[in-house]
Amino acid sequence: MGVEIKETRVSDAEFEAMERFVFEYLSASVEKEDEGGRMRWYPWHSAQYRHNHILNVVSLAEEIARKEGADVDVTRVAALFHDVAKLEADQEMHAEAGARVAREYLNSHGEYPDSFVDQVCRAIEDHSYQGDLRDLPLETQCLIEADLLDKVGANGTALMLLRMGYEARTHMDADEMVDRVMERGIDAANRVRSDTAESIAHQRLKRVRWFREWLEDEVAAMGE
Ligand SMILES: [Fe+2]
Repeated sequence: MGVEIKETRVSDAEFEAMERFVFEYLSASVEKEDEGGRMRWYPWHSAQYRHNHILNVVSLAEEIARKEGADVDVTRVAALFHDVAKLEADQEMHAEAGARVAREYLNSHGEYPDSFVDQVCRAIEDHSYQGDLRDLPLETQCLIEADLLDKVGANGTALMLLRMGYEARTHMDADEMVDRVMERGIDAANRVRSDTAESIAHQRLKRVRWFREWLEDEVAAMGE
C-alpha cells in the first residue's frame, strides 16, 4: 500500500528517452567516421535509416510479443537497442557491442532489476542467431522475427527499388529486384516460428507478389 514497488515497467517517458539516446548514438557513430568509410551515401547506411528500421522493429516486435505472451517491455527495449552499435562495430560484433551499450544505459538510468537488464541484453546479444528460433527465449525470438519481417513486404520493396537508383540500374531491372525481395520474404516466412510472425510474413509476401504482378501487367517487356 502507498509505496508502489517499481517492477520492470518501462514508462513512455523512459522509453522516449531511450529512443533519443539510441538515435543520438547512431548519429554520433556516423560523425566519428572518416568520410566514405562505410559507403554512407547509401541511404540504408545512414543513421536516419537505421533509426527508422529500429522503430519498425520495435513496433513489429511489440505486436508479436503481445500476441504471443512474451514480456513486452523486455522485447521492446531489446528491439530499441538491438542495432545501436550497428554503425560503429563490424557486422559480426554489432550484437555483442549493442548489448554492452544497452547494459550501460540501463544500469545508469532508472532502477531496473538485474533480471530485466539481463533478459534485454541476452536478446540483443543473440539477435544475429542463425539457428532454429525455438532454441531461444521467447523475447529473443520476437526480436529476431521482427528484424526479419522489416525486410519484406512493401517496405522491403521500396528500399530495394531505392537501392537500384543508387546503383544506377534502370527500372527494367525492377522485376529482378522485386524477385530478390520475394526470396527474402520466403526465407523469412520459413524461419519465423510464432503464428503471429508467420501471418505477418504471409501478408507481406502477398503484397510483394501483388507488386510483382502489377509491374508485369503494366510494363510490357517484363512479361517476355
Ligand atoms: Fe535490425
